Amino acid sequence: MDYLIIVDSVHKVPCKLDLHLVNAANVMMEQRAAEALNSLLRAAMSDFVEIKALSGYRSEEYQQRLWQRSVAEYMCDGLSKDTAERLCARYLARPGHSEHETGLAVDFCSPDWDDTQDDFYSTEQGRWLCKNAARFGFILRYPRMKEHLTGIAYEPWHYRFVGEEHAKIIREQGLKLEEYVYYYFSFLPIEQ
Ligand code: DAL
Ligand code: ZN
Repeated sequence: MDYLIIVDSVHKVPCKLDLHLVNAANVMMEQRAAEALNSLLRAAMSDFVEIKALSGYRSEEYQQRLWQRSVAEYMCDGLSKDTAERLCARYLARPGHSEHETGLAVDFCSPDWDDTQDDFYSTEQGRWLCKNAARFGFILRYPRMKEHLTGIAYEPWHYRFVGEEHAKIIREQGLKLEEYVYYYFSFLPIEQ
């Protein structure tokens, strides 16, 4: 598994992903990401912060259903299909283009919620993740003020597993994944 794989509006999820999925905290994740997720949740609990994993791996078919439902909701409000799809794409990756399809992405929420929270960054769960997720190899994938670069609006709940060593540098340097992979990583003496 390539833990630095780029999946975005331009880069599709590869057809042949060597993906071994396992259950972690009631979501399916890639094996190493699942182990890291379990460690992260345990560490949060030991700090008395209970965090819920809301969504992990999604099949392309499932992402398709989410996409169609979201577009339909916008169209019910009277928007054209084109506008509905453009608005939808701010928060939802098109089917075949979601990191969730790699098993490396996870959405978190507070334990008493069952959906993503716009104000998650200000909850104790969001704050704990911001501070600690990198220690377990997870990065905040769609940061604030980076929408023009990621194409996705700020998602304080969406974390992506890249491995501890990479996550630490990405966090310290305030990079987004594409910047790290294309410009930064190639100059680092990191063993792969
Ligand atoms: N919400 C993120 C962008 C996804 O659908 O993968
Ligand atoms: Zn997500």
